Amino acid sequence: MAPTARNVPAALTFKGKIMIIVTGATGQLGRLVIASLLKTTPAAHIVAAVRDVARAADLAAQGVQVRRADYDDAASLDSAFAGATKLLLISSNELGRRVPQHRAVIDAAARARVGLFVYTSVLRADSSQLSLAGEHRETEALIRASGLRYSLLRNGWYVENYTAGLGGALAHGALAGGAGEGRIAAAARAEYAEAAAIVLSGAHPVQQVYELAGDTRFTLAELAAELSRQSGKQVPFHNLPRQEYREMLLGVGLPAPLAELISDADAAAAKGALDDDGHALGKLLGHPTITLADAVRAAL
Ligand SMILES: NC(=O)c1ccc[n+]([C@@H]2O[C@H](COP(=O)([O-])OP(=O)(O)OC[C@H]3O[C@@H](n4cnc5c(N)ncnc54)[C@H](OP(=O)(O)O)[C@@H]3O)[C@@H](O)[C@H]2O)c1
Repeated sequence: MAPTARNVPAALTFKGKIMIIVTGATGQLGRLVIASLLKTTPAAHIVAAVRDVARAADLAAQGVQVRRADYDDAASLDSAFAGATKLLLISSNELGRRVPQHRAVIDAAARARVGLFVYTSVLRADSSQLSLAGEHRETEALIRASGLRYSLLRNGWYVENYTAGLGGALAHGALAGGAGEGRIAAAARAEYAEAAAIVLSGAHPVQQVYELAGDTRFTLAELAAELSRQSGKQVPFHNLPRQEYREMLLGVGLPAPLAELISDADAAAAKGALDDDGHALGKLLGHPTITLADAVRAAL
């Protein structure tokens, strides 16, 4: 059922209207969240809060309100969040700067008296061995301390993190990685976006914490085997120790912080940091998440 001013609690409406704000709306996840929201929510009730409004012209053309919101500019956040009843903070991609940026968003949301604050965190943020989880832990603590009503979407890995590299693996005749025998419960970015839209649209009672991960739990050797099967070319998996994998990523031109992040993530994945058997994402969506075969097919 599409949310209207009639079927949501009064605290989640503003002057009788729902106003859902999505930050980072010109990013990959943000665009998918808006697209998913538009299936159930009138465009006039959706605000795309973006750094560069010129890049959101296509969203404006669909009737979505576009407002400038830069995490580094508190005044822009205050005007962007005016009238917000629900807000999705899509975690920033500026690693190392995320805590002050997210704090600015949380503070502005509290000033705007947002009725529900939703945040894209990381799987098991409270105990995760991923080094990037530290900023998510700090952000979650700020959200809890803010007094805002909140929901934490602890997202597992996007399957695209791995399938984006399959072309290169085919070209080189091997899939390199550092996750060893670790299983990765990944789902499509679009599925995490759909989950965010469901939580924002109020179709279900909202939980404070969702541990969201894919139903398919694959190893990188299984990914390589599926790639081999579909391409008809033998592409073995080569597991590399963390430093060697980092050097390899640097060698193919990745910037140092990204090479560090990816090699750290794979090392943590080898110990189970990206695995999950809870199926909470599929249950929230009401359908199983993408299979490994379909993810590889989509990438090829
Ligand atoms: N679960 C996973 O596997 C996974 C993988 C990668 C990243 N992530 C996390 O999930 C987030 C969303 O993923 P994604 O694929 O959508 O990443 P993305 O395409 O890089 O999007 C990041 C968004 O953050 C916005 N942003 C960065 N600095 C900002 C600032 N100062 N003010 C306002 N907005 C700012 C960017 O704005 P612009 O559009 O203006 O650039 C962009 O829209 C990432 O930022 C990262 O924290 C998760």
